[in-house]
Amino acid sequence: MEHSHRVSRGAALARPAVTEPSRSRSSVDDEIESLANARDEAQAALRAAQDAYAEACARRDGRVASRSEDEADVLFNASPYVDVRCEYGYIQSNAGLYIDVSKTRPPGVPRNALELATDNFTRELRAMKAFLSGDDSTPGNGEPVILADKTDVSPEEAELMSELRDQLATFTLSNDAIWARERSRPEVPAPWIIKAPYLALCYFLDLVFPENRPIQRFWFLETVARMPYFSYNTMLTVYELLGWWRRSSELRRVHFAEEWNEYHHLLIHESLGGDTLWRDRFLGFHSALLYYGALNFMWLLSPALAYNFSELIEAHAVDTYAQFAEENKATLRKMPAPRIARKYYEEGDLYLFDEFQTARPRSSRRVRVTTLYDTFCAIRDDEAEHVATMAECQMEDSAMADVRKIDLITGLVLAFIAANAWIDRLAATAGMDTLEIGGVDVGETLSEDGILVQILRFLPFF
Ligand SMILES: [Fe+2]
Ligand SMILES: [Fe+2]
Repeated sequence: MEHSHRVSRGAALARPAVTEPSRSRSSVDDEIESLANARDEAQAALRAAQDAYAEACARRDGRVASRSEDEADVLFNASPYVDVRCEYGYIQSNAGLYIDVSKTRPPGVPRNALELATDNFTRELRAMKAFLSGDDSTPGNGEPVILADKTDVSPEEAELMSELRDQLATFTLSNDAIWARERSRPEVPAPWIIKAPYLALCYFLDLVFPENRPIQRFWFLETVARMPYFSYNTMLTVYELLGWWRRSSELRRVHFAEEWNEYHHLLIHESLGGDTLWRDRFLGFHSALLYYGALNFMWLLSPALAYNFSELIEAHAVDTYAQFAEENKATLRKMPAPRIARKYYEEGDLYLFDEFQTARPRSSRRVRVTTLYDTFCAIRDDEAEHVATMAECQMEDSAMADVRKIDLITGLVLAFIAANAWIDRLAATAGMDTLEIGGVDVGETLSEDGILVQILRFLPFF
């Protein structure tokens, strides 16, 4: 992130009231400026050293561009889309984009919630009516959004932008091929209590997003994918606040960097127009809020299980993006990377980009995003880094070493709940307050203070 040269109010207050009287103000300013230049040069040298290091790592790991990729670059450079802006986001057209903020266009402060909510509700209501009446060519429900300042885009460029947008609608994504990829890689160890909702979520995605709407599916996925990291930071902060747990506070930095990374995946899919249908936005926003609540609850039961769920989802994301990039390679290579992708992966300070990649040496991965193909490969590789980080987060929980134990415990708990319900019903049918078998009061044995519950309390997740 670039630092503004504006002096903040806080910094001005912290400054000593009187500087050395013998030095004029201009000589102090000169000194500050030369120190700022020296700092910038040192930063540029650091960046060059990091790039060289990442390149050497990529060569060692066999991640260098092949001959055929060089040829693809030549083909891309000859394509008419090289300099075409690929920006079609509906939300961005209303809410803006942080990279467009500058000294002349400051970010400003959000208006009060009532005003913002009213504006949003009015817009979405119009889009909802269009959706319900089957009209998918109105603003907010399918109408092409082309984000470009009419004054700096020539009619030819505008024509190319709309051509590019039409090509984005030709992408496909095979669900069967994604599942085949999942079956062919090592399975992520997970207990059934986590695997069952994971499978339900994946089949829901296959059902709701047909194979010819991959960009919309990715937009939905990334809207939801940010929530786990936000949830983990919420819960870690609550635990810190209550004085329960502060040993893993450093993880909050990693989780923020992960969430920032997922946010950029989302902005990339918005640029590609993944958010232009009302139905997708409604589903995405509400699912994300529900998911956030569910993950907070899951964390309360077991943080390791919450991380395990994320690991499964992230691994599924790797398969999905890998399949998409492979399936649409030829077209993706002709298209330019969105502006937000270049900004995130290539420009400025990459501190946050390095921060979430905990499973590899710092700054050993640098990404070049020229085409849309490069962009999807970068996202795929980010997701693989998330898988590794999520796996690391569970390592210290001994219960996760053998997920079969968790299956066994879950089975016991479910059997206990079923037995309790059955006994209650049996006792009610017999018109009794308690049920006694062989002199033992079964109701009491299974009740909150009973022997079974006391035994189960020794087990994790209960
Ligand atoms: Fe993502
Ligand atoms: Fe992810």
